[in-house]
Amino acid sequence: MVLPPSQRLWVGMLVVMLVVVELPVALQKCIFDEVQARTRVVRAAPIHQDSPPRLRAQAGQRGSHSGRMASPLHGLRSLRNKAPPTPTSPQPIRIWSWIPRESSNLSEAEKERLEAAVEEAVRMVSSLLSVNRVEGPLLLSRDINKYCKFLWRNSSAANYNRCGRANNNYRSETCLDVTIPDDHLAGCDIYAEPDSPRRTELRPEGAGLPDTDFLLYLHVQATDKCRAEPHVLAYAVHCQTDSHGRPVAGVVVICRDKLTGATYSHRAAVQTVIHELFHALGFSKDLFHTWRDCSSTSPVGAGCSPRGKVTHSDASDQMRIYTPSVISALQRHLASSDPELGGALENLDVPPGGVSSHWEARVLQGSIMAAVLGDSSTVRIDPVTLAALQDTGWYTVNLSRAQSLVWGEGEGTTFGSLSTCQSSSFFCTGSGFGCHYLHLHKGECQTDEYLEGCRVYKPFKNGSECWKEENTRRSAEEDWSGEIFGSDSRCFFSNLTRQVCSQSFLYSSSAEGRCYRHRCTGPNRYQVQVFGSEWVDCPAGGTIQIKRYLGLVSCPDRRLCLYADIMPPSEDVNTFPAAVTRQV
Ligand SMILES: *[C@@H]1O[C@H](CO)[C@@H](O)[C@H](O)[C@H]1NC(C)=O
Ligand SMILES: *[C@@H]1O[C@H](CO)[C@@H](O)[C@H](O)[C@H]1NC(C)=O
Ligand SMILES: *[C@@H]1O[C@H](CO)[C@@H](O)[C@H](O)[C@H]1NC(C)=O
Ligand SMILES: *[C@@H]1O[C@H](CO)[C@@H](O)[C@H](O)[C@H]1NC(C)=O
Ligand SMILES: *[C@@H]1O[C@H](CO)[C@@H](O)[C@H](O)[C@H]1NC(C)=O
Ligand SMILES: [Zn+2]
Repeated sequence: MVLPPSQRLWVGMLVVMLVVVELPVALQKCIFDEVQARTRVVRAAPIHQDSPPRLRAQAGQRGSHSGRMASPLHGLRSLRNKAPPTPTSPQPIRIWSWIPRESSNLSEAEKERLEAAVEEAVRMVSSLLSVNRVEGPLLLSRDINKYCKFLWRNSSAANYNRCGRANNNYRSETCLDVTIPDDHLAGCDIYAEPDSPRRTELRPEGAGLPDTDFLLYLHVQATDKCRAEPHVLAYAVHCQTDSHGRPVAGVVVICRDKLTGATYSHRAAVQTVIHELFHALGFSKDLFHTWRDCSSTSPVGAGCSPRGKVTHSDASDQMRIYTPSVISALQRHLASSDPELGGALENLDVPPGGVSSHWEARVLQGSIMAAVLGDSSTVRIDPVTLAALQDTGWYTVNLSRAQSLVWGEGEGTTFGSLSTCQSSSFFCTGSGFGCHYLHLHKGECQTDEYLEGCRVYKPFKNGSECWKEENTRRSAEEDWSGEIFGSDSRCFFSNLTRQVCSQSFLYSSSAEGRCYRHRCTGPNRYQVQVFGSEWVDCPAGGTIQIKRYLGLVSCPDRRLCLYADIMPPSEDVNTFPAAVTRQV
């Protein structure tokens, strides 16, 4: 099969829901659960020692991920050798991306955007997750319930559970509107008699994909779902799992018009692909029950729930994931030793007792696996999400590459509950202006459906970034508020008013978010400079006055000069901020 030029192979992979930059009013939500629920997942049968050897193409092509798919090597078949002893140490996951026929014709500009976003997302994911690699080419399974009209059901027959008659209507395997190329699929045979080894080949064995642990079908299309849900940028499903239950193939649908829009953001697209990939790789409510429940893998003890069930509700009916790494990551994050501190799951749009495939927004705001991704400079690949991927049991995760979440750090067990959000400094009350909790943006105190009445300072639609010099509106107003915009500026609560001729006529008594320069002098220690002033020490948790200004600047505690990886996004579009856990 010769592939048309548009069907390029990419190094990369994954399936999930995509979300883009959150506009203050319009949330970008993820519809992963809705889509996955309607997708049939093919699970590979466990490999039995006595199963007859299948012919398998040895279409090597080892080590050439970047090339185009080779055409099947007909006639080069040989019996597959007994598997050589596998080097069992997990290796970075190899994700192969494939644009199926169903994808629309893409313009060069669209292709470039797509390629750049997927490549970066895949690189990121591969640097985080390692797997026991697939040996030889990855071949997807055919669904026996589709190609077969009946199976031999007599358990003492030699062909027990094999296919006795082909389904004449069988055409191909699909996954979420994508037709899986025959070349990616294992062959299948019909055994016309219950005991005879004679078989006829219904479909030949495909060549498979060399050097691949996960196959990502990238379907770029203006689907009905894209049209129906204007804030959906992409969505995804997993379609096949291996005999251990690990997803090996999935589809990510990228809504085409989101690639063309004037507001396209590379960083947001990368985050969306990563989010969808995490879903497809296992962060899915349909797979939670297969995750490592610590009560079965280790004695019940530190970080273990005695209930022996991955998801269940806590005392206040909040659904949570109780797996060992998630519990210990949350304990560390919230500075709590509560053994029942599971990962809280989103409850919006979920039937009572049901589960969602996203974190609860109040508890893990800013996480890459929240249902809504905010401004791309505020989204984090956080320690709890990486712990969850570790607890799938299929991946070895480099937890030291987690990005600081900041949100809720050290706030204790009850952080993010409806009853405590009024009293935490991470939340706000009322409707005033202030600072987003990372202090990179000015914000407005708002709620949304996921926050259920709790409120946070959300960045404005435009002009809220303190680090952007172009947000400067030097005017009479700036002169009295003292704001300075630039790469080292951050947001401070302030009611400074410049004294003009010993009189402050533009008088504002309530504090709001303002942008001032800062420079670190140690962990959680820094100085501040406002327009026309010297550098002044700003003691964390205290307030300062500035010469020639009335009013006060508040100095945030444990938000500035503490996390080396909280910084304005780099101008270089190809750099996902490196994960740093080291603190200044
Ligand atoms: C894709 O583009 C080619 C050439 O430009 C055209 O012949 C073909 O019909 C297009 N296919 C679709 C699905 O638009
Ligand atoms: C099942 O298969 C065995 C061996 O072929 C045969 O002896 C037996 O009669 C079969 N049983 C039925 C119920 O068909
Ligand atoms: C994990 O990531 C850190 C930081 O990037 C790196 O230094 C370390 O070598 C990685 N560890 C493994 C086992 O890959
Ligand atoms: C920012 O928002 C203001 C008011 O909402 C609007 O007038 C202005 O055009 C916007 N600027 C940009 C660059 O979108
Ligand atoms: C600034 O706010 C403080 C309380 O936070 C208040 O005491 C003071 O009067 C305000 N100053 C001005 C100039 O508004
Ligand atoms: Zn999602």
